[in-house]
Amino acid sequence: MAANPNTGSDLNAYWMPFTANRQFKGKPRMLARASGMYYETPEGRRILDGAAGLWCVNAGHGRTEITQAVARQLEVMDYAPPFQMGHPAAFELANAVVKIAPRGLEHVFFTNSGSESVDTALKIALAYHRAKGDAARVRLVGRERAYHGVGFGGISVGGMVANRKVWPAAMIPGVDHLRHTHDPARNAFSRGLPANGAEFADDLERLVALHDASTIAAVIVEPIAGSTGVLLPPQGYLKRLRQICDKHGLLLIFDEVITGFGRTGSPFAAQEFDVIPDMITCAKGLTNGAIPMGAVLVSKNIYDAFMQGPPGAIELFHGYTYSAHPTACAAGLATLDIYQRENLLTRGKQMAPVFEQAVHSLKGLPHVIDVRNYGLVAGIELDPIAGTPGARAFGIYLKCFERGLLIRTTGDIIALSPALIIEPKHIDELVGILSQALRE
Ligand SMILES: Cc1ncc(COP(=O)(O)O)c(C=O)c1O
Repeated sequence: MAANPNTGSDLNAYWMPFTANRQFKGKPRMLARASGMYYETPEGRRILDGAAGLWCVNAGHGRTEITQAVARQLEVMDYAPPFQMGHPAAFELANAVVKIAPRGLEHVFFTNSGSESVDTALKIALAYHRAKGDAARVRLVGRERAYHGVGFGGISVGGMVANRKVWPAAMIPGVDHLRHTHDPARNAFSRGLPANGAEFADDLERLVALHDASTIAAVIVEPIAGSTGVLLPPQGYLKRLRQICDKHGLLLIFDEVITGFGRTGSPFAAQEFDVIPDMITCAKGLTNGAIPMGAVLVSKNIYDAFMQGPPGAIELFHGYTYSAHPTACAAGLATLDIYQRENLLTRGKQMAPVFEQAVHSLKGLPHVIDVRNYGLVAGIELDPIAGTPGARAFGIYLKCFERGLLIRTTGDIIALSPALIIEPKHIDELVGILSQALRE
């Protein structure tokens, strides 16, 4: 049995998620502490965090305001049932989220993760049409190369084959997919939104022609697809998608689990790209990753459609034991307070030119076939090693970790999404280590 050299405990019991368990347990990569822009390994090696944990620690690690708020909440009240009962922090946090949300999104349903947010939004979309007397609208439209978490709803509208192929019989029925928007032949080395490809949105008209609008409930897309390698929406694409949805009465859902809370330089990508969806799913940055929490932001129109029956009736038969958990609400309130005080939700705009310049300096290094960026997110695409897709980028991932940098890779694409507190010196360090790893 593999004994952990760092803690002396056995590694077998823990089945690690989205991990090559046997490879990892043969040569573990452990993190023990975190502060600001850095992790530290158990043996005391500093690791620059180029991924904000997993796209979530937007205000940087170890924020004492969050720690204290959570500790205080646990002392005052550890748990409160969310069904037919409330507690003040839940209402406060919902109001605080609405305050920074795009106009018209006036209600918040709390969940515990991005996956739960996605499944919640899909269920609300179907229930909304039913509530409006349009129960034939049962189809959902996702997109190729989308990641919407790992619930059955999320993998059904998602477009990552590895997440879908094992469970074909469990997919929710009536789902179709738009084609993805990645077009390196026309858009490689774009800075900001790529110029070509608004017409990819017209693929929705094809699906409407195939299925008829009267059978379609909603379309869900990530404004920037993160998990499949930072696929940016072509200029005009999201606006056109909104127009087609409006034309046919389809709800538009933006999955902002990674783009929410400042990643693009605005609180939400919807504001940055000036396209307002009917619902936004979010998680991660909502609590700075400190306590699990997700949310669905819902338009007034949708919420009002549910508030029509007898006032004593439960309007939506959906919710979680830990919806609006008091400690998560405390963490969320403290997080939003930090974002506000330090102007972090728009800091990405200020840092984007420095970040852009730095990541595009990787152009020309061995195997780099594309660099793309927006706000404080970047994708660096490498040409795959023939016959072993993903191996090139994973090799770089390991080299970076040895040299003191945490990045994220998906297939042969490196994704960078540092905390929004990043300073130019961190950007230099990040790109310095990465370019060294690429050169070797
Ligand atoms: C766009 C998007 N949706 C949903 C999820 C799932 O979130 P979680 O892992 O919290 O369930 C993710 C996670 O990375 C994501 O990027």
